[in-house]
Amino acid sequence: MNKNNIILIGMPGSGKSYIGNKLSEILSDYIFIDTDSIIEKTTGSKISEIFAKFSEDYFRKLEYDTIKMVCTGKDKIISIGGGAFENPDNRNTLLNFGTVFYLKSDLDVLYYRISGDSTRPLLQAQNPKEVLVNLLRKREQNYQKAHYIIDTDVMAENEIIEFITGHIDETTSARRN
Ligand code: S3P
Repeated sequence: MNKNNIILIGMPGSGKSYIGNKLSEILSDYIFIDTDSIIEKTTGSKISEIFAKFSEDYFRKLEYDTIKMVCTGKDKIISIGGGAFENPDNRNTLLNFGTVFYLKSDLDVLYYRISGDSTRPLLQAQNPKEVLVNLLRKREQNYQKAHYIIDTDVMAENEIIEFITGHIDETTSARRN
């Protein structure tokens, strides 16, 4: 495994894209890749449109292909959609490609951040909070398979960044700033 790649996983609203962008500002040799953004660019459609026009299964196939495609090379920070770590092949690919960090957040915090966001298709339900509760309950055991779990609710942003940069290989840490 090339430990220097950084993979960020977690529920929608857990801050994967935000932390990924911050990391790429600090680790200047790294590129930040968000698999949902790649899917939107390559298909020319928003994730919500892909769900609506095709299906969740169709999206999951695109997500699977995208993860396979981006998991090559080094110096990458990859953020994946909240459901991607459910697929055992994706888990295997990602756990072998780099160091996987689960950005763990309390359900109420997640709900506060994403409620009312119409770009998140899975939560366009009558009771989005209940959907979120069920998704988190179902996914938590797979998220726990990450190499590291970061409790983002009790850590400041700079502590999260330092934790991540401190747990990738030493050559990389030495190159910071
Ligand atoms: C999903 C999360 C989304 C996106 C898609 C499905 C999920 O990404 O991949 O809407 O299953 O939780 P974020 O986690 O970045 O919101």
